[in-house]
Amino acid sequence: MIDKDKLAETVAEIVSGYKLPEQPAGLYRPVEYALDCGGKRLRPMLLLAVCQALGGNIEKARSAAMGIEMYHNFTLLHDDVMDRADMRRGRPTVHVKWNDVTAILSGDAMLTLAGSLMTEVPDAVLRPVLDMFNRTAMEVYEGQQYDMDFEQRSDVTVEEYMHMIRLKTSVLLAGACYIGALIAGADEADARAFYEYGVNLGLAFQLRDDWLDTYGNPEVFGKAIGGDIVNRKKTWLLISALRESRGELDGILAEDLENDELIRQVKSVYSSLRLSDRCNHLIGEYASKAISAIAGVKIAPADRAYFINLAESLSGRDK
Ligand code: IPE
Ligand code: IPE
Ligand code: MG
Ligand code: MG
Ligand code: MG
Repeated sequence: MIDKDKLAETVAEIVSGYKLPEQPAGLYRPVEYALDCGGKRLRPMLLLAVCQALGGNIEKARSAAMGIEMYHNFTLLHDDVMDRADMRRGRPTVHVKWNDVTAILSGDAMLTLAGSLMTEVPDAVLRPVLDMFNRTAMEVYEGQQYDMDFEQRSDVTVEEYMHMIRLKTSVLLAGACYIGALIAGADEADARAFYEYGVNLGLAFQLRDDWLDTYGNPEVFGKAIGGDIVNRKKTWLLISALRESRGELDGILAEDLENDELIRQVKSVYSSLRLSDRCNHLIGEYASKAISAIAGVKIAPADRAYFINLAESLSGRDK
């Protein structure tokens, strides 16, 4: 049975037990810094939880769990350069503490380390695990490219947005679930059901991340608030406001306002359209879809409760 606290302890132990070479310090200390800084460890937790729920031995999944967390942290190093973001997990981002070149090269190292960790899975599942890992990694880059492209556009639709966040965020959660299922030796139907769980969980997760970027408490969220608005990120909130505010938001975005004033005015449009509540409602719908996706999988009731609880708690998360 999945024990939530024990699982968190296992993940913490896997990450803290991962040792990097001493030299060159300029390459490896930023990697340590990124991995040391906490974070929710959601992806390795999912990988191990699915493996365990489907009757697998999580000892065999340790390196894949480390690999998926390493890959996630690599995406963050590069993402913070792309998004010009200065704070993460309540600390300066790598490109701010060091510089852009460090974020790029240490990020590259993390990507390669993640790939090597993935090869340490049992031989019987090596090929499918690597296929899923590589496919997922490519999809994340596609999503990140759409995210960047959309900054320059004002006609992005909700459908395009959902496709973009599926790529940049959801598939990694889904891939973590799928790899956990593969290591457990699960059948294809169960692995796919958990993949769908991860996809929908990821959609809820990114919608909430975008909501927190506007409505979160920076002390708790650990990231600066309003960066998405300043960068003209096409979030569900901004897309909906562009569509429904009859040109008011286009006018505000076209003006040359100071960041704080821009954020204030955009939030005032959001509030007149009740977008905050509507966004959270949508998040709840994707969390429900995640839960439904695994309805047909035979797992212990207590383990199902873990996945239900995870979807519900992430939908209302503050960090
Ligand atoms: C941040 O992911 C990037 C997104 C996909 C929103 P997390 O919110 O999982 O980041 P940490 O690892 O917990 O800091
Ligand atoms: C995260 O999207 C997607 C990836 C890192 C691949 P965001 O840009 O919204 O993530 P945060 O808010 O910086 O963590
Ligand atoms: Mg980004
Ligand atoms: Mg970002
Ligand atoms: Mg964000």
